[in-house]
Parts: sequence; structure tokens; C-alpha cells
Amino acid sequence: MKLNIAVLPGDGIGPEVTAQAVKVLKAIAMEFNHLFTFETALVGGSAIDKTGNPLPDETISICKKADAILFGAIGDTKYDIDPTAKIRPEQGLLKLRKTLDLYANIRPVIAYEDLLNKSSLKIKQIKGTDILIYRELTGGIYFGNKTLSDDGNYASDICAYSRDEIERIAHLAFKAAQSRKRKLTLVDKANVLESSRLWRKVVQELAPQYPNVALHYMFIDNAAMELIINPRQFDVILTENMFGDILSQEASVIVGSIGLLASASLSDKHAMFEPIHGAYTKAAYKGIANPIASILSVAMLLDHFGLEDEAALVRQGVDKSLKLHITTPDLNVKYGHVTTSKVGDFIEDFINNPEETNLNFTNIHLGQSTII
Ligand code: IPM
Ligand code: MG
Repeated sequence: MKLNIAVLPGDGIGPEVTAQAVKVLKAIAMEFNHLFTFETALVGGSAIDKTGNPLPDETISICKKADAILFGAIGDTKYDIDPTAKIRPEQGLLKLRKTLDLYANIRPVIAYEDLLNKSSLKIKQIKGTDILIYRELTGGIYFGNKTLSDDGNYASDICAYSRDEIERIAHLAFKAAQSRKRKLTLVDKANVLESSRLWRKVVQELAPQYPNVALHYMFIDNAAMELIINPRQFDVILTENMFGDILSQEASVIVGSIGLLASASLSDKHAMFEPIHGAYTKAAYKGIANPIASILSVAMLLDHFGLEDEAALVRQGVDKSLKLHITTPDLNVKYGHVTTSKVGDFIEDFINNPEETNLNFTNIHLGQSTII
């Protein structure tokens, strides 16, 4: 298969983790005889530094032409501490999502057997967790009308949704539930918010089209608690933009590190793949950033194009790296750790030759643990 992939490394740890994801894609292309071409473009704080614009026109046109987009991370603490900054890195990502109409953000949350003890939650609570979050990505409070009064003492953000915006992602979430455990939980705040009541109404009306899916409702405050008390009760979660942002980040506690959570953002025409973590500027260029979320985003990319064997091989490589503790320090306290690029090298090696890698890296790893 021929795929033209736009690579947007972004800020902070974005370039390092994305480089590992590209490494993995190249290994897959080689192994399975695909032709993947890559075109790199600027976004976020690094784009502001070079062009004054967090999403230059050139980046938009590269993304529009591409079959898929691989996104790193954006953000910079220098903007976070300055609420008056008019131009901000995040605007690049938000504008890209809106411009390409990437309305469905899909975030898998899986408790890996080999990482159960990395979570700060109890093993018996999280074991077996397998949740797919469908987060609406181009509406709600993120994109509603914003105001700031002239005297700077009053501000507002509108949370607005239309029936169409709800329907299109709800259909995707129902379909995903059909191919899984057939349970869909709509998370909202329908006891308070008018927009949430519209979500309930629309989703309820669609439910008869999916008679084999059990539809449940949960208020966001309760869901935030239930997600960590009893995550196994969830199969597919459907929710609006901001609730999805918060819940998915909370869910990373179940998995053990935010450095493990991948995502796909889809429209009817475009597809973007990105880790859910941010730019983590203070970790940049130290070789300590976990590239697994970015590498698992590659697996989602491959799945998206029906390349299931390829995606499975990437996931096996990730599993193997976790099993052998070939991981960055966020996951590896007991045995010392390897760098961001070594994790990428390991998974690349695994793709080239699964059996060999196992042996080589077990030895390397044992060597390391004796030193430490
Ligand atoms: C995410 C991020 C973004 C969001 C930021 C960087 C704008 O937190 O993808 O979860 O809030 O959507
Ligand atoms: Mg977030």
C-alpha cells in the first residue's frame, strides 16, 4: 500500500517520540512491502517561533493532501504561565482539528498485564480494563463563542452542540460497541446542562438502530469516580469534548503512565493519529520521554487502513518491550531504563526479526540491571 503521511512533531517531547513512531512505520513498510512517504510540517510553539503562526498555511495544505497525519505534541510552559498571550501553541492543534473536521477522537484505555503494578490503583480494581473512549473533538465549549469584556473582568465560553454533531459520533460509538462488548455509556451532565440533555435525547433516539447495544447513562462527576473505582464496567464511553479530555487523561492512571495512551482523530475524509499526552517541555531532549503512545498511534493508523497484521506486529513489539522492561523511566523503576530512541530501536528490531530481538534484548537488559 502507498501512504503519504504528514508528520507534525510539534513541541517539547513531540519530535523525539514522533521520530520513534516514524522508525516503526519505516520498519513496517520494509517488512510488508509498503511504500510510506513522509512529509514533515510545523505546528504549535515551534511553528510560532519560526513563522509567528501556530498552524502555517503550508502545514494545512500538507495535511489536506496526506492520507494520514502523525501528530507529536504541542504546548510550552512559557505560554501556560501567560494567560494574556494572544497566540498560543494549542491554537494550532485546535484549528487543525476544526479545519479537517476531525470530529471523532478515539482513545483506547487498556490495562496491560505487565504493567498492572505501575498503576497507583489497586491491581484487583484495574485488571482486565479495556475501554474505548469516543470523545467529540470539534464542538462544545472548546469551540463555542468566547468573550472577554473590555475591562478584562468578565469572560465566557459557550458549550454548544447541534443534533448533527452528536449523531455522527454517536453512530461511530454505537458501531464500535457492536464489535466489542456491546455496551455504550453516554457520559454527560444532563441534570444541569441543556447541551447534555440534547446529547441524551439524540443518543436515545439512535439507540433502536443498535438493538444489540446496551445503552447506559452516567453523569460526568460520577463517571470520574466510577472510572477509577470500577473501570471494568465500561466498554465504549461516548462523551463531549471537554469531558472526554478530562476522563481520558484520568484513565491513564489505570494504564500506568500517560506515555502509553494513543489516539485516532477521524473525519469522513481525514485521519490523524497522536499520543494523548502533551509536550512535557521539561523532559525534552533528555531521552526520557515514553514513545509508546506515539508508537501505538501508529498501530491505530495501520488499523485504520485495514493493515491489521502490520498493526498487530507493532502491538506485539510494544508488548514485548513492556514484558522485557525495555522502557523509559516513567515505567521502569526496578531495572533502570533505556532511552526514548532505544525503545524505538527495540520495537523496530522486533518488527524486523521478532525471535532474535527477544534474545538480544534480554541479555542487554540483564546487563543493565546488574549495573544498577
Ligand atoms: C488533548 C490535549 C488538547 C485538548 C490540548 C493540547 C489543546 O489536552 O488532546 O487531550 O485539550 O484537546
Ligand atoms: Mg488532554
